[in-house]
Amino acid sequence: MSTDNRFDVVVIGGGPGGYTAAIRAAQLGLRVACVDAWRSDKGGPALGGTCTNVGCIPSKALLHSSENYENATRHFADHGIRIESAAIDVPRMLARKSGIVRQNNDGILYLFKKNKVTLFHGSGRFEGRDGQALRVAVTGADAVLSAPHVVVATGSVARPLPGLAFDEQRVLSNDGALSIGQVPRRLGVIGAGVIGLELGSVWRRLGADVTLLEALPAFLPAADEQIAREALKRFTRQGLKIQLGVAIEGVDAGADTIRVRYLDASKAAQALECDRLIVSIGRLPNTEGLNGDAVGLKTDARGFIEVDADCRTAVPGVWAIGDVVRGPMLAHKAEEEGVAAAETIAGQHGHTDLETIPWVIYTAPEIAWVGRTEQQVKSAGQAYRTGTFPFAANGRARAMGDTAGLVKVVADAGTDRVLGVHVVGPMASELIAEAVMAMAFQASSEDIARICHAHPTLSEATREAALAVEGRALNI
Ligand code: FAD
Ligand code: NAI
Repeated sequence: MSTDNRFDVVVIGGGPGGYTAAIRAAQLGLRVACVDAWRSDKGGPALGGTCTNVGCIPSKALLHSSENYENATRHFADHGIRIESAAIDVPRMLARKSGIVRQNNDGILYLFKKNKVTLFHGSGRFEGRDGQALRVAVTGADAVLSAPHVVVATGSVARPLPGLAFDEQRVLSNDGALSIGQVPRRLGVIGAGVIGLELGSVWRRLGADVTLLEALPAFLPAADEQIAREALKRFTRQGLKIQLGVAIEGVDAGADTIRVRYLDASKAAQALECDRLIVSIGRLPNTEGLNGDAVGLKTDARGFIEVDADCRTAVPGVWAIGDVVRGPMLAHKAEEEGVAAAETIAGQHGHTDLETIPWVIYTAPEIAWVGRTEQQVKSAGQAYRTGTFPFAANGRARAMGDTAGLVKVVADAGTDRVLGVHVVGPMASELIAEAVMAMAFQASSEDIARICHAHPTLSEATREAALAVEGRALNI
């Protein structure tokens, strides 16, 4: 092996977990290689993983475009703006999305150069070890790398419905659902989770008749019940047809129509006919082709690589981060773990707090939360108080014409420490940062209430919800 292929750290996977780990390790003076298999349309590297290529970034681009369209066609009139005719140019919308993806791909390539991370474009595979050094072969780049530390950041893939493969033309995973070439007349979605709601919203706004079939009887059970109820009401009013408690019996993909057979919540047999079907029923950890056996790397019964709180696996020198390990499958969680793993490898004290990872669903209204829901606190038997404040009573929200939703603060009844903050409403994705900061600093609800918030801002709703914990909101 050439000395050129000896590194301090080899990262397998260039998604948000892997590329961030690689950059942080390089910043700390380590010699770093990153192996990533994703190919652009032209066959070259396309760093950023699921998030950049077929996840966070393209979905947010389409959400923004489709929200603009909906505003233009439905809401601008309220502002006195008359648009005589608006039309959606789907190919142009998709081209804009692809351009944004490329900008992000290229941005990471630039960051690798800037930080002297060596990229190997191909698939990484454990080959074994020589003493301390782990060996990773790169198919495609025809190289064997060695390093005392390997960070596995191979991410996740869409879970198919048993017996129904994705063809990405009519039966779509997130990949195909982000590239539908024209607005489908009837769009079926199996799974009313995060992807179903975000991508269902995109195509509904553009004119599709969207039906979501969800197995669970409760809507968004991970969210606070009050927030989920409010969101369901809004989405239903917008025209998303959401059926809960269904059991999918089978899918017949005919030449023209896809027919989903299912039992509804009352166990009556039903069929949904649609032109395209998104299957968004969760994601599976991806260890395909990694050949972990060569070094004794184990996965649990669900396929996740087993790690401790610091993302160490049981194999000396092997670390794993992001979607391929336990915890929420979120880009910022992967990034946190990437930074922490790199810092721990470099001898520092890396740290990830899974309790303060925020969740955001980028629908309209947006949904965001951090910490525990009221139901979780209650079922743990902990004494608590809550404070809520509706955006309908917030001046900025009224000025924006965006008054749906509320902020809710859950605090310990004795210490007043904030246990969770839940938002459904405009810019919830941005508002949640204050709550994450408060929880990371172990703030009380009174701490939030005593901080001066600029007027008129949406963030005043957070302060008012914190004041409401004490029963002393000012503007309601
Ligand atoms: P990934 O991003 O999956 O990256 C893994 C990389 O490893 C890929 O490039 C893959 O090609 C490569 N790889 C795999 N095996 C090998 C191998 N053997 N050799 C070399 N390379 C390999 N999260 C959010 O926080 N916010 C959002 O708004 C959001 N939106 C999303 C929207 C959609 C439609 C989807 C599907 C996901 C979304 N997510 C979002 C989730 C987010 O994309 C993931 O949590 C995140 O990408 C996980 O990062 P990762 O680094 O663990 O893995
Ligand atoms: P999800 O876990 O959010 O939702 C899947 C839904 O499908 C669940 O409600 C589940 O009950 C339902 N389901 C499962 N099997 C079913 C079946 N057989 N029939 C009907 N319903 C069924 O998963 P999703 O939407 O696929 O997204 C995967 C992950 O990607 C998310 O959990 C999240 O981690 C990440 N993501 C994050 C986003 C964000 O942060 N804004 C956006 C999109 C994805």
